[in-house]
Parts: sequence; C-alpha cells; structure tokens
Amino acid sequence: PERSFIMVKPDGVQRGLVGEIVKRFEQRGYTLRAMKMMHASKPHLEEHYKDLSSKGFFKDLVAYMNSGPVVAMVWEGKDAVKTGRKMLGETNPLASAPGTIRGDFCIEVGRNICHGSDSVESANREISLWFKPEEIIAWDPCIKDWIQE
Ligand code: GTP
Ligand code: MG
Repeated sequence: PERSFIMVKPDGVQRGLVGEIVKRFEQRGYTLRAMKMMHASKPHLEEHYKDLSSKGFFKDLVAYMNSGPVVAMVWEGKDAVKTGRKMLGETNPLASAPGTIRGDFCIEVGRNICHGSDSVESANREISLWFKPEEIIAWDPCIKDWIQE
C-alpha cells in the first residue's frame, strides 16, 4: 500500500491542530505507521525542501519551518499521496476549498499548517529523510476489513 509523508508545520503545532490533522487521516481510513515530534534543524529542512532552493522564498520557508517543533508522520493506505494532498488543500490556503485542512484553518501561503508529499517518489525520499527504518511500525488495524474491500 502507498505511503505519504505528512507533517504538521510549526504553526499547526502552535495552534493546537495536531489532533485535528491526525483525526482526519484516521477517520478517512489511513493507517498511521510512524509519528514523531521534532525541532528540525535548518540543514535538515534545506534537504527536505531542496527542490525549492532556487526560489526567492526559500530562506523564509526554512526559517518558518525551523521556528518551532513539527510533527512528522507516515500515513499508509490506498492513494495516500494524491488523496493526502487533496485533504490538505492547495499550496495557497485562499485557493483551498472549505473542507480541506488549509481551507478550514489558514489564510497565508507562508503559514499553511501542513505538508504532504507531492508524488510517490517524493514520499519515499521524505520518509527516509525523516525516519529510520525501525521507526516505521508494522501493525494491522483490527478494523481494516471494514475499510478495505
Ligand atoms: P508542502 O506540502 O509544504 O511541500 O507545500 P506544497 O507542496 O503545497 O507547495 P511547495 O512544495 O511548492 O512549497 C512548499 C512550501 O513553501 C509551501 O507549503 C509554502 O509554505 C511555501 N511556499 C510556496 N510558495 C510560496 C510563496 O510563493 N511564498 C511563500 N512565502 N512561501 C511559499
Ligand atoms: Mg511540496
């Protein structure tokens, strides 16, 4: 099954939205495989967002992401990457539909609460950047047959 790397950004943590974001993925039927809180270093965040290093906002982005702790997670289930992005909303919260996380909780692109991998390849890269293999937990939710055909 597909996995995505989902992260509550420092503003999401400060605003008490960790539970809300976890709840949405749980309720949708995804399985939590890994989770940890950490205050990520600037070099770690520069590596995470390296595809954006040429952008004018890169320095501000890294400072924002380094401004407090984040909650990093691995969620697993059918179409986790694309559906996870839909649940997050658009990069610009003002373009995000109500009902999405960004569409319900924020208004600024530079304070958009959550991160989600943009492809399966990015997900694999990000999961191995943020988690050691032994931090990814194999377990079977007892409700799985009520979620998966
Ligand atoms: P992530 O899930 O965080 O990767 O967001 P995304 O995939 O929707 O957007 P992208 O990867 O292109 O950009 C990463 C992050 O950089 C965004 O979530 C924003 O926080 C920030 N960002 C993107 N574009 C802008 C911009 O034009 N201005 C500012 N200030 N920040 C931006
Ligand atoms: Mg992105």
